Amino acid sequence: MKITISVLKADVGSIGGHIKPSQALLNEIKNFVASQAKNLLIDYYISSTGDDIAILCTHTRGTGDAKIHQLAWEAFQAGTEVARKTGLYGAGQDLLKDAFSGNVKGLGPAVAEMEIEERENEPFIFFAADKTDPGAYNLPFYLAFADPMYCSGLILSPKMSQGFKFRIIDVGYTEKNKIIELKAPEDLYDIAVLLRDTERYVIESIYSRSTGNQAVAISTQRLHNIAGKYTGKDDPVAIVRVQGEFPATGEVLAPFSIGHYVAGFMRGSHIGPLMPCKLNATISYFDGPPVVTAAAFSMKEGKLSEPADVFDHPYWEAIRMQVAQKATEIRRQGFCGPSMLPFSELEYGGVVEKLNQLEKRFILSD
Ligand code: F6R
Ligand code: MG
Ligand code: MG
Repeated sequence: MKITISVLKADVGSIGGHIKPSQALLNEIKNFVASQAKNLLIDYYISSTGDDIAILCTHTRGTGDAKIHQLAWEAFQAGTEVARKTGLYGAGQDLLKDAFSGNVKGLGPAVAEMEIEERENEPFIFFAADKTDPGAYNLPFYLAFADPMYCSGLILSPKMSQGFKFRIIDVGYTEKNKIIELKAPEDLYDIAVLLRDTERYVIESIYSRSTGNQAVAISTQRLHNIAGKYTGKDDPVAIVRVQGEFPATGEVLAPFSIGHYVAGFMRGSHIGPLMPCKLNATISYFDGPPVVTAAAFSMKEGKLSEPADVFDHPYWEAIRMQVAQKATEIRRQGFCGPSMLPFSELEYGGVVEKLNQLEKRFILSD
C-alpha cells in the first residue's frame, strides 16, 4: 500500500522567549487538525521540540499535496491566533507570507515528506531539532548511511551491501532546487567534500541502492532565503525509515552520541553541540543548547503506533552530561573565533552595522 508520511513544522509563538509553545497553543493546533482530519488523514501525531510545533501525518495523497499543506497552514494560523491573544512571544514567527498558495514550501514552515510502498511492518523515526539548521543532520546521517564504523549493517547485512544514494542540495542557490546525486561508497570523498559545509550543502534525501526505496527525507528550507532577513533559525525535521534494507534504529541513533557542533544556539549565530533530548524538550542555556528529539514509530496501513521516545534512556543521560560540558566549554570563549558563526551566517545585522561605522575610523599608514 502506498502511504505518504508528511511532517510540517513551524514556530508560531512560545512562552517566555523562544522556549516552548504553551499548552493552549498546542491544544488549538491539535483540535484544528482533529477537526479537519476526516477524509484527509489516516493518522497524525502533534508534538513540540523547543519552540517549534510539528504536525506529522499519514495519508494517501502523495507529497506536496495542496490539501495537506493547506491543513497545516491553517492549523498554524489558528495557533498564531491563540499565540497573539495570549501574548506568546514571536506569534506567527514562521508564517512569513500572508496568503497560502498551494504549498507551504517558501512560506516559512519546514516540510519533510516521502511517499513509500509500506512494508509488511514499517518502522521509522521522526527527528525534530531546534536552534539549528538542516545541515545539522549532515554528519549523523552520513555516518549512519555511509560509514561502517557507525553502521555495522553496511558490512553485516547483504541487504545493505550496495550502499546508499545521497541527494544533496545547494541551499545557497535560491532560484530553483539545485541538487546533486552521489553514491556511497564510491563517491564517499565527494560526499564528504560537500557535507563538510553544513550551511551550503545539505542532505535532502537518501535512497537504498539495493531496492531504490527512499530511506530519508529532510526539510531543507532556509528561512532567511525566503524572508531576505533573519526570522529565526530553520529548525529542521527529518523522517528516517529503519530496519531491513535500511540501518537499524540504533545505528541511526548512534552518531547522535557525538553531540557534534552545529550552527544555531543563541540568536542563530553561534556554534553549539547538538543535544539528543526527550520528546517535547524545551530550550534553556544560552537559548539552547541546540536540541534534537526522536520519536520512533511502527506503522500499519498508515496507522501509527504510539511514539517510542528513543532518546529517553539512561544511556542518553550520560551523553547529555557530556554534551552539556561541550556547550559550556565553547561558550567560555564568548564571541571569539569559531564559537560564533562567520560573518555570512550571522542572523542579526548588528555586527554588519558596527563594521560599517568602524570602517570610517580606520587610518591607513605605512
Ligand atoms: C534563536 C532564537 C533565539 C533568539 C533570541 C533573541 O533561533 O530563537 O536565540 O534569537 O532569544 O530573540 P529576539 O530577537 O526575538 O529578542
Ligand atoms: Mg523561534
Ligand atoms: Mg525554533
